[in-house]
Formats: sequence, structure tokens, C-alpha cells
Amino acid sequence: MKHDFDQIISRKQTHSTKWLKFSNPEVIPMWIADMDFVCPPEILRALSERVNQGIFGYTDTPSSLTDIFIERVKENFDWTIDKDWIVWIPGGVVGLNIACKTVLAPGEIAMVPSPVYPPFTEAPENMERGFVKTHLNDYKGRLEFDMEAVKTLLTDDCKLFFLCNPQNPGGTVFNKEELNEIAEICKEKNIIVCSDEIHADLILEEGLEHIPFASLNKYSEENSITIMGPCKTFNLAGFPIAAAIIPNQELREDYERNSKGIVAHIDNMAFVASEAAYTDAQEWHSNLLEYLKSNRKILLERINKIEGLTLRGPEAGFLAWIDCSKTGIETPADFFIEEAKVGVHDGAFFGDKRYVRLNFGCPQSVLEEAISRIEKAFSQRK
Ligand SMILES: Cc1ncc(COP(=O)(O)O)c(C=O)c1O
Repeated sequence: MKHDFDQIISRKQTHSTKWLKFSNPEVIPMWIADMDFVCPPEILRALSERVNQGIFGYTDTPSSLTDIFIERVKENFDWTIDKDWIVWIPGGVVGLNIACKTVLAPGEIAMVPSPVYPPFTEAPENMERGFVKTHLNDYKGRLEFDMEAVKTLLTDDCKLFFLCNPQNPGGTVFNKEELNEIAEICKEKNIIVCSDEIHADLILEEGLEHIPFASLNKYSEENSITIMGPCKTFNLAGFPIAAAIIPNQELREDYERNSKGIVAHIDNMAFVASEAAYTDAQEWHSNLLEYLKSNRKILLERINKIEGLTLRGPEAGFLAWIDCSKTGIETPADFFIEEAKVGVHDGAFFGDKRYVRLNFGCPQSVLEEAISRIEKAFSQRK
């Protein structure tokens, strides 16, 4: 492996949200979804060249970025997109909010699978719209839809279906059959699908592939908003940028109109970093996947040996959704943080307090130390 993911780098002095969260300095922060890895050297080089130029004025979207993005989507997901379909936005969460504003009229609601990354439920609330949750069942550690429940819960006022694929927090990579079923249900009920595919480049499970919802068929393409971006793949969360891919012209124009004057323009540096990422950082990306697979293997082997804890995935990403329901602990996240000094994300934040979410996008030595602490805390439990 060419790139070194073992380096331990202090992040507190950069006001890292992840590293400033816990007042107890002993706690290893493993919650919010960014990784403790230096981003690809090609990105660092491009950024420093741009800094050296020294002028940071208003900037057009580089057509070279759009071109390389289209090429990557074709190459990685076999989906041919047109440059006119892409609306560059400052981040995925912004994209979810504009989707609500655009698709839902007053009185209309969104369907949100749960557990899920909280901005999916916050977006309708921010736009003064409602939502209905459909529960994802934990089937042997894989979060899956209950399609019958989806059908029952979809009332006539539901006009937007929020999909998170790969799923956060569960890491599920939805397969063609599952996606087709969602597509059929949404077509029948005339519902637009907003598919957040921010984690699409991080498939870990051998044999699985990411299928963009919109690539299923022409109807899905014309009735969807797909959100993709470089922030999770290349560890660029501090540079908000994402692409909303909206093939339907009318929907796209509405989306752009709803962004106007409210949504900030995209940072000069975010453009530079994204273009360098998509153009030159393929080797770093494949090294990253190998590293994450190895971290996942260590986690799976050791976490499942701890009585009461269960982990099966994730199929994609660097977030482990650990089932603690058999431990009998009322608030497992508190136990991890206070007794093991491992700063996990409380499952309650995503909609299920019986789970914790642990970010394993960190050097292996840090992960091993965290697991050792978890093992010790559970073995000493009275
Ligand atoms: C599914 C999903 N969408 C969006 C985001 C955040 O995107 P951004 O930081 O670009 O707003 C995250 C971050 O964890 C995420 O997991």
C-alpha cells in the first residue's frame, strides 16, 4: 500500500468538531463522520498551488470538474449523466433541504426510513413540512425495508421519498431488487425520490456494487434527485460541496429557483479539492478501501466476541452500527463513553438508542486501543 493511513495526527488545534466534542481528554472520539486521515497528496498539491496564486474572488464552476465528475459516475456506476443535469451545491444536507422546499407543497410530507442520519428528518421540519418514518428492520445486521409497511404508510399527501443509499447509520448497500421495488411503489403513487448517495464510493463488501436509484430506468431518472459528492470519499467534509443530479428539467429549474439567494456559492477551494480528487486520487481511494476493509475485519472479529454486542456490517462506509440490545444496558452510548472512554455516537440520535455508531475511519492502532477499552469495560461490568 502506497499511502500511509497509520499516522496519528493531532486535530484539536484545527477546531475539529470531532475532537472537541468530549471534555474528558481521555475519550477517543469516534462519532461524527469524518476520518482521521490526511487527504490525498494530489489534493494537497492542488490546494497549495491555488493558495499560492493568492486571489480568492467569485468563481465559476470549473467545467473540467463537471467533466471529470460525469466520467467518474459513468466509470464507477455505469450511469450516463448529462452536464446540464448537475446542480453543484454546498453540501449534501443543503441538497436534502432544497429537495423538501422544491418538492413538497404546504401540507405535503416526506417518507423517511429510520434509523437515519438526522438531517433527513430535520429537512422537512426546517421547511415546515411533515414526514412519516418507515422503520428499517435489522435483518441479521443488515438494515432493510419492510416494503409492506412502506406501502401502508404512504398516504396521498406523501410526495417525496428520502432514500439514503448506502445507508447511514446501517451501511446497507441496497440491491437492484430492493431499489426496483421502491421505484415501483413510488411510481404508482407519483412520488419523487431524493436519493442521498454520498457514501457510494465506499463499498467494502466484496461482490456488492452501488446502483444509483436514478439509473434503474428512464422513469426513475426523470422523477428523482440524486445527491453525490467527494466529501466522504476523500475526507473533505470541511469543504462543503456536492452534486444534485436532476435529469428532469422542470424539477431542476424549480430546485435552482428554490436555492437562489439562500444557498451560498461554492468555495474556491472546494472546487479545487474536488477536481483534484476525481482526477488524480484514484490510487489513494483504492488504498483507503483496503485500509477500511482491514479495520472492519478487526472490528467484526473482536466486537462480536463481546457478550451482548452484535455487528455484521457495514457493507459500505466507515461507520459501524453496533447492536447493544442484548447487553441489558439502558443507555449503551453512555457506557461506551463513560466506562470505556470510547466516544461513539448515540444510536438515539439516529432513532434507536439500543445501538451505538462507531466511526472506524482512523489509524489501526487507535481502533485497536478503542476495542481493547471496550473489551475491558464489558469484562469488568458488574
Ligand atoms: C448520508 C449523508 N448525507 C449527507 C451528509 C453530510 O453531507 P454534507 O456534509 O456535505 O452536508 C452525511 C454526513 O455524514 C451523510 O452521512
